[in-house]
Amino acid sequence: MCGIVGYTGPRDAGPVLLDGLRRLEYRGYDSAGIALVTESGDLFVEKRAGKVAVLQDAMGDHPPRAGIGLGHTRWATHGRPSDLNAHPHSDCTGRITVVHNGIVENFRELRDELKAGGHTLQSETDTEVVAHLVEDAYAGDLADAVRVALARLEGAYALVVLHRDEPERLVGARLNAPLIVGIGAGESFLASDAAAIVAYTKQVIFLADGDVADVTPGGAVITDLSGAVVERKIDIIPWSVEAAEKGGYEHFMLKEIHEQPAALTSAMTGRLRHDSVCLEELDPIRDRLTGIDRVELIACGTAYYASLVGAALFQEWLGVPARSTVASEFRYSPPPINARTLVVAVTQSGETADTIAASRLAGDRGALVISVTNTVGSAITRESHAAVFLQAGPEVAVAATKTFVTQVATLVMLAADVAHHLGRLPAAKEQELVAALRRLPEQAERAIELAATTEEMADRYAEAAGFMYIGRSFGYPAALEGALKIKEISYLHAEGYAAGELKHGPISLLDADVPLVAVATRSAVYEKLISNLMEGKARDARVLAVATEGDTQIEQLATDVLWVPDTLEPLSTILAVIPLQLFAYHVAVKRGRDVDQPRNLAKSVTVE
Ligand code: AGP
Repeated sequence: MCGIVGYTGPRDAGPVLLDGLRRLEYRGYDSAGIALVTESGDLFVEKRAGKVAVLQDAMGDHPPRAGIGLGHTRWATHGRPSDLNAHPHSDCTGRITVVHNGIVENFRELRDELKAGGHTLQSETDTEVVAHLVEDAYAGDLADAVRVALARLEGAYALVVLHRDEPERLVGARLNAPLIVGIGAGESFLASDAAAIVAYTKQVIFLADGDVADVTPGGAVITDLSGAVVERKIDIIPWSVEAAEKGGYEHFMLKEIHEQPAALTSAMTGRLRHDSVCLEELDPIRDRLTGIDRVELIACGTAYYASLVGAALFQEWLGVPARSTVASEFRYSPPPINARTLVVAVTQSGETADTIAASRLAGDRGALVISVTNTVGSAITRESHAAVFLQAGPEVAVAATKTFVTQVATLVMLAADVAHHLGRLPAAKEQELVAALRRLPEQAERAIELAATTEEMADRYAEAAGFMYIGRSFGYPAALEGALKIKEISYLHAEGYAAGELKHGPISLLDADVPLVAVATRSAVYEKLISNLMEGKARDARVLAVATEGDTQIEQLATDVLWVPDTLEPLSTILAVIPLQLFAYHVAVKRGRDVDQPRNLAKSVTVE
């Protein structure tokens, strides 16, 4: 939920850290702070409520030159956003300073103990206890002191610690929150993710839970909590810094919407073979797949909506019960799970705390776990027997777009692959599916072109009192995701509903100020959907329909139509959501919202 970056090396650390913080800001943007050990050996700390730009203004044009430092951008959990609660936090001596992502669950007990021992704590945060625990444990070796302090912590953490008197050394540690080490030429980095450091190095070590990284300009020594050295391989980041920049677009969200055709192509690369689908990542677990008699998908937010498509297809193509459950419900009310249960965990970041906990629970109970994620090296990959990557490239906007469409496409391929290998997907059906998948990137491009009308439409809908989104079957996840986009970035209320449920309650919300957005693409339930659309129209609601090109009937019925190309029903979710993303984007712009960093949100939700 927070972004962390640290640097040690010959460059001027201040600008490197500010650059890193700007790239990590999507992780949280309530407050930001920086600590540097200046050339004269002083510890310089500046921290401010608000975005990184506020911190930068406060630092002025000439922050002190330094060869080492750490920075943080925060999404508040303990303690409201304020200058005082912003990270870094320091100990009583002002020599030790800490940045943290996660929650120290036993911080109250530790605070009381530290105060009783004579420490003065300044903030309301859980993090501050760490600086004081390190202070108590420090006897000349920062890594040793951090390991002693970590033994006292319960909860989750990614931490970076700096001691003024060891001015080339950063100590990082992780448990259930991401942290990577960047290895450069005579310089090293620590960061929450690669976006912060890819401009300087593509060589990274993904730390595992329990790792402590002792980082100097010459490299990193990784140990476990007892101090025993552990070997970790160096990975190469497969994308460049340009991929994490706006590239001429006004917002990351708009850029990422336009990247969807290319992201779909990338998601399918190497996975379509002539007339069949094959995910090589499943090869090591194929033996276990043969015995599967139930499929449980788990995910949160947008990923949950994508997983609804996966559940429908596993059930249809495998002929076994399959369903999707939000991870925060699954983990506290799990279904019966055994070795014949396939659990598919869907998470863009690979860091979402609820999804990780639910996957761990399923794995502990013997399930076969497959993760579907965009993030190589993320925590979810360690909780699963096989990881299937979205290959969508970095997504920076808080509102997910290209990762939703690639999640749906990847789940379609996953269900098809498993059904194929179990002999349950007829060849003709798979052939038809592969042909439709191949057409998808070009059709996504066309859907973007056709949705150019959303900019003008937003003028007419931006002052609505709220929206009701409806869909059936594969249109239902698109309706849910369309409503979530409006909520997230325009702050207008929107309900996403199964169209058949409209008459069971929410129809009372409809009137001239609450438009009905109907996903009415060609499908087996098209006529049923039209009946629901008419129910809304009869209540004076304006109707905005997403429909298949060539549908002449819908033009007579809807106030406005957003057209999408025709495709197979399981893929229609992907095309239908594109105009809804653009509609939400333009409504949010008209309403003057912060599209890429909407209030109260963070992209990665690493707390329960
Ligand atoms: C969607 O726009 C949001 N960013 C949010 O719902 C997100 O999908 C959810 O928090 C799950 O994130 P994950 O895919 O990284 O697990």
